[in-house]
Amino acid sequence: MKILHATAEYFPYIKMGGLSDMLSSLTKEQSKTDETFVSLPLISGFKETPLYTGNLFSCIKTEEVPHSNIVTEILRQSQFREAEWKGVKLYFFDSPLFRDQSSIYGNPDEHFRFAVYSYAAYFLSLELAVDVFHCHDWHTSLAVALQKNSPYGKPSVFTIHNLAYQGDHPQWMTGFLKDAPFFLYPEAYSHDGKTNYMKAGILSCDQLTTVSPGYRNETLSDANGFGLSYILRKREADYTGIINGIDPEEWSPSQDERIFRKYGTEDHEDGKLKNKISLYEEIGRPKIDPSRPLVGIIGRITYQKGYPTFLQAFNERKHLSHYYIFLGAGEEDLQNILFHLSHTEQDRFYFFKGYNEEFARKIEAASDFFLMPSLFEPCGLNQLYSHAYGTIPIVSRVGGLKDTVSESLLEDQYTGIVFEPNDPASLGYALERAETLYENEKKFFETRKRIMNLDWTWEKRVKSYKEVYNKAIEKRL
Ligand code: ADP
Ligand code: GLC
Repeated sequence: MKILHATAEYFPYIKMGGLSDMLSSLTKEQSKTDETFVSLPLISGFKETPLYTGNLFSCIKTEEVPHSNIVTEILRQSQFREAEWKGVKLYFFDSPLFRDQSSIYGNPDEHFRFAVYSYAAYFLSLELAVDVFHCHDWHTSLAVALQKNSPYGKPSVFTIHNLAYQGDHPQWMTGFLKDAPFFLYPEAYSHDGKTNYMKAGILSCDQLTTVSPGYRNETLSDANGFGLSYILRKREADYTGIINGIDPEEWSPSQDERIFRKYGTEDHEDGKLKNKISLYEEIGRPKIDPSRPLVGIIGRITYQKGYPTFLQAFNERKHLSHYYIFLGAGEEDLQNILFHLSHTEQDRFYFFKGYNEEFARKIEAASDFFLMPSLFEPCGLNQLYSHAYGTIPIVSRVGGLKDTVSESLLEDQYTGIVFEPNDPASLGYALERAETLYENEKKFFETRKRIMNLDWTWEKRVKSYKEVYNKAIEKRL
């Protein structure tokens, strides 16, 4: 099967969050059995230079467009540059719209840039004659709408990674969608008096997925659908939740060159302790007693991640012996509070503001527990990375977190600690349970070993995607 993914992020080229890791690890696995292609924007400042094959692809057939305008002109000046990455063929959208941008998001013209990119990705799917076209999040959802409109349209799958970001814009900003080369009907993307790209993807695709069954079910209810639940309910029969996998070659403590000391299931006691001691030295706090439990926290500092719940529990449970290391960047107000705590509570808390892959891995390797207090979480990758690194996750009972972490009474199924979202008392009590577990060394080490052996690879999940692809193909027959 020939599969083309269209995305805004792809590791190691563009990473803002989990979408990037999810796409590269999924496609790497898919490429073992299927011809797998990915389109992504070419922006400036990649850490890794793509391995270009020299093949170029155009983004529009100008002779088929009745008249030219700014969109068709930009598409004419753009091209896809083919490259190879670990068995996957990448198609970099090399366009004046993105070429000089150092970051993929945050531009005031996003509604325009991603619409033009979506057209190009749609056109590429025709050029490559793919069997399935798989788009991710609102940035590429118009490509799905274009497939539906076209007599040459390919079977399409649309995946929601985060319903909180919908690409909604005032209608007057998106008048160009009615014109060449889009010719989209406003009904496809109008929502609540605005243009909503996410809605277009949800309504137009042949099959719809999201990144966990738990999140799928949550989004169908008005409380968690961010205004789109009634649209999602229309697609309920075609809507599947598939939990993300991880790439063990990227995320494994026995192979990770970026941590202080590699370890596996046989030497985790010594290995993790050495990582902890080295991390305290690196952050300039070598006097912290390494026998105290270390709780790691890493993430975008946004409403979604629920960090204020943690701050309240942190203030209320001062008697606990936990040490906390927090890596993240985002909302200024919260960052300032974290800076302040890092200064005033040096014996309990350390905060590093920024985005740092290497530091994230060191925290995973050194920590005893990993805290994710999300208010909603479509899947979440850090609890899976934590399992792989023998770091026991403490998570809120939402979305993909509740699907992947179980505080089961059956010991062989116990894989972490779970609390109620947005509830500092429940989080505080979870931290108490973490301390009790930590003090019971036998149970603690057994749990650590068990979670390190969990299988979060893509193998099974790729089969679930294949089933979804086949359903999309059947719909088009
Ligand atoms: P989301 O995509 O909502 O941000 P995920 O848990 O799916 O959440 O994925 C987040 C990914 O981004 C993880 O790989 C995490 O380690 C990484 N990440 C988030 N913030 C940082 C940061 N400040 N430094 C390094 N990595 C980060
Ligand atoms: C989104 C979600 C996160 C998920 C990731 C990859 O960013 O917030 O929960 O893990 O996409 O699917």
